[in-house]
Amino acid sequence: MSRLILVTGGAGYVGSHTTIELLAAGYEVVVVDSCVNCVAGEEGKLPPSLVRVQELAKKSLVGFYRVSLTDALALAGVFEKHRVDAVVHFAALKAVGESVEKPLEYYQSNVSGTLTLLQVMREAGVHRLVYSSSATVYGAPQYLPADEQHPTGAGLTNPYGKTKYFCEQVMQDLAASDKEWRLVSLRYFNPVGAHPSGRIGEDPLGPPNNLMPFVAQVAVGKREELSVFGNDYDTPDGTGVRDYVHVVDLAEGHVMALDKAFSKSFRGYASYNLGTGRGVSVLEMIEAFCRASGKPVPYRVVGRRAGDVASVVASCSLAEEQLGWRARRDLQEMCEDAWRWQKLHPNGFRSCQ
Ligand code: WQD
Repeated sequence: MSRLILVTGGAGYVGSHTTIELLAAGYEVVVVDSCVNCVAGEEGKLPPSLVRVQELAKKSLVGFYRVSLTDALALAGVFEKHRVDAVVHFAALKAVGESVEKPLEYYQSNVSGTLTLLQVMREAGVHRLVYSSSATVYGAPQYLPADEQHPTGAGLTNPYGKTKYFCEQVMQDLAASDKEWRLVSLRYFNPVGAHPSGRIGEDPLGPPNNLMPFVAQVAVGKREELSVFGNDYDTPDGTGVRDYVHVVDLAEGHVMALDKAFSKSFRGYASYNLGTGRGVSVLEMIEAFCRASGKPVPYRVVGRRAGDVASVVASCSLAEEQLGWRARRDLQEMCEDAWRWQKLHPNGFRSCQ
C-alpha cells in the first residue's frame, strides 16, 4: 500500500516540482493550496500547475483542496477524508520586501497557518512533517559557508525570516514534548530554475521580487531592464553573492528528507541546508543567463535594497552525510531550464487557463 503525503502549497513553485518527485518515488499525494500565491484553476478545476504535474508524472493526485491553512475546520476535513501518512509543508507567503510592509499577513499566514496545521496533524495522529524553511533564519551570516550550527534568529532583518525562525522553534519544542514527532526542516538558499520539460516553473503573480525570475522576464522582453541592487558590497565584483540551487535538486531533497522522517531510527527534529556551497554574484548570474538564453539582459546599477546582505553561501555536508543529498545541477542548467520555461510561457500559467 503506497504511503499518502499531504503537500501544502503544492500548486506553487517548489511545491509543484516536489509533487512530481514524490509521485515518481511511488508516493500518493493530496494537495492543499489556497492559491493566494499562484494561478488558480477555474471553479472545481485543478490549478494549471497541477494539471501539468499530473501530465509530467503520468499519475493523478489523490485529491486537491483549495483551502487556507488558517481554516482549521476545512483542513481537519481533509485529514478525515484521507489517511495521511506525512505532510510536506510549503504553504507560506515568501517575499522578503513585502513582509516588511505586511507583517500581520505574514505572521497570520506563515505562523498561524503552521500552528493550525500541526494541531490538526496531532488530532489526526499524523506526526511526520518536512518543512520548507529558509536560509534567512541565519540572518546576516557571522561566518561562511553557513552550516546548520550557525546561530539562527539573530539579526533577522524582515518578518518573513522571523516567521521561518519561529516555526522552527515551535517544531523543536513540539519534538521535545512528545517523542512521536519526526520533523525535518529544510533551509533553502536560493531556489531557481524549472523542470527540464519547460512545462512548469516559477510564476510570480506580480513583479518578481527575486533575481532569477526578473532576469528571465527581461530576457523574454516582458520587462525593460534589471535593477542591480548595489555594486559596492565586499564581494569580488561588488554585487550580492548568493547560493543558487536548482529547484529539481531541492525537490529531490524533500523526497530524501521524507525517507528520513519514515526511517525507524529517526525521532524528533532535524534541520538541513539545501544549497550548492558555491556563491554566484548578480553580475555572474546575468552573464550566465545571457549565455544560456542567447538574449541580452540590460541592467542598471541602483542603490542597495534594504535588508540585503553581501554574501550568503551554504555548507551542505550534513544533508549529504545524513540524507544522501547533494545538488547535482550547475548554474548553466539552472539558467537553461529557467529560460526554457520562460520562453514557452512569457505570461506564466495565466496563458494556460
Ligand atoms: C538575490 C540577489 C539582491 C532582485 C530571498 C529570501 C530567501 C528566498 C530567496 C524564499 C541579491 C539581487 C535581486 C533584483 C537584484 N526566498 N537582486 N535585483 O534576497 O537572496 O533571498 O529570496 O525562500 O528566503 O530571503 O534573493 O533573488 O531577492 O536576491 O540585484 O531585481 O539579487 O540584491 O543580492 P534573496 P533575491
